[in-house]
Amino acid sequence: MTMRLNGARIITLHKTLDRRGNLSVIEEIQHIPFKIKRTYWIYDVPGGEVRGGHAYKRNQEFIVALSGSFDVILDNGKEREVFSLNRSYYGLYVPKGVWRQMQNFSTNSLALVLASTKFDVTDYIYDYALFKEFTNEKNEHI
Ligand code: TYD
Repeated sequence: MTMRLNGARIITLHKTLDRRGNLSVIEEIQHIPFKIKRTYWIYDVPGGEVRGGHAYKRNQEFIVALSGSFDVILDNGKEREVFSLNRSYYGLYVPKGVWRQMQNFSTNSLALVLASTKFDVTDYIYDYALFKEFTNEKNEHI
C-alpha cells in the first residue's frame, strides 16, 4: 500500500474467488478509514464527459470502478496525480480537502462512491482559486 498525496491511496479489497462468480466486500472502518453515511453511483456518462471538478472541506470518499474504467485526478494545490480505476476489487480513498476530477469514462462504466458525510452543498469548493486559498490557510495552521 503506497501513501499518495494527502493520504490518498488505492485500497485493494478482499476478493473471494468462486467458480460461481467472484465477490468483494467493503466494511466501514475495517476496510476503508471512515464510516459510510452515503452511497451514490455515476453511470451512463457520455463519452468525453468530466465529472467532479471540486473539493470537499469535510467529506471523504472511496471510489470503485464496479464496471468499466475511468481516471480520477487528485490535486492538493501543489501536486497532481492520476489514478486509473478499472477493477471492481480495488478503489481509491480520497481524503477531505483534495480537488478531484473524474474523466475518461469507458462505455457502460459504473463508478460507486462511498461517502463519509451526508450530501451538503456547503461542503463543496467549486472554485479552484478558492480551493488554493483554502489549502494555503490550512497549511498556515500546521
Ligand atoms: P456533483 O457532486 O457535482 O457530481 P460530480 O462531482 O460527479 O460532478 O453532483 C451533481 C448533482 O447531484 C448536484 O446537483 C448535486 C446532486 N447530488 C445530490 O443531490 N446528492 C449527492 O449525494 C450527490 C453526490 C450529488
